[in-house]
Amino acid sequence: MESLKDRTAVVTGGASGIGRALCLAFAGEGARIVVADIDDAGMAETARGVAKAGSKAITVETDVTKLASVQSLADRAFGEFGRVHVLCNNAGVAVHGSLDSASHRDWEWVLGVNLWGVIHGIEAFVPRMIAQKEPGHIVNTASMAGLIASQGLGVYNTSKYAVVGLSETLAKDLRPYHIGVSVLCPMGVATQIRESARNRPADLTNEAPSAVEPVELMGRTLAPAAVAEMVLSAIRANRLYVITHEEGLEALRRRHERLEQAVLETKA
Ligand SMILES: NC(=O)c1ccc[n+]([C@@H]2O[C@H](COP(=O)([O-])OP(=O)(O)OC[C@H]3O[C@@H](n4cnc5c(N)ncnc54)[C@H](O)[C@@H]3O)[C@@H](O)[C@H]2O)c1
Repeated sequence: MESLKDRTAVVTGGASGIGRALCLAFAGEGARIVVADIDDAGMAETARGVAKAGSKAITVETDVTKLASVQSLADRAFGEFGRVHVLCNNAGVAVHGSLDSASHRDWEWVLGVNLWGVIHGIEAFVPRMIAQKEPGHIVNTASMAGLIASQGLGVYNTSKYAVVGLSETLAKDLRPYHIGVSVLCPMGVATQIRESARNRPADLTNEAPSAVEPVELMGRTLAPAAVAEMVLSAIRANRLYVITHEEGLEALRRRHERLEQAVLETKA
């Protein structure tokens, strides 16, 4: 997609951090915005920012873990604006700790938001985006933790590796319909991700609070606005991978070398 002017963009997790920055960046390009989140106050703040940028936003309370909620979001978005051109499946949460101590509730919560949230977005929006027969783009927020497995982030890694795999296939599946796909893989970004538990539902909260310290991320901490600019340029160029931190290059290289080595060592 070359221009977002007068297009419609839907952003889940749009009440904070990277999601809010995406809303503001798209609004700056003249797009109409559908902000989706479970945080009403945060969404209202994002909508004010969109208005300041000279564009229109609606806010739709949405829990991405629930298919019916994401389907209602799609109904509202198409109902209000007629078309949806950009869908950002961005809502996400993180837990820290080793896999042997992860609770069932950790798995359910993190996979529910980070993986099922993306799946629900695809189920609710893609058939209608195909049917409207206009160029479009889907951005799925994964993480560098979807390409490199760090100790202490196993549950999160699992969800994000799945989002990378899903996005790689989605890009192939949607090519005939002129719908591009990008998968956003940042390292540190200055957001509220470390306070993810603020939105954790009571029935998925652990009985004993976790004493685990968050994993220290290596590399720079980028501003959400800088990440949003990278996403905009990936949409324009139809680039699949949006890898925001060059600090990750060495670790990616080592992983690929180990994979190559494994093939060579294993071959008959
Ligand atoms: N900040 C980082 O360092 C970093 C690095 C890599 C990837 N990410 C990913 O970026 C994405 C955005 O996170 P962020 O860093 O902006 O964090 P953030 O906490 O600032 O924003 C996340 C948003 O998701 C919303 N959310 C949580 N559960 C939800 C649900 N069930 N339904 C709808 N919305 C829900 C929250 O209310 C919040 O507004 C996430 O997918 C995260 O995993 C962040």
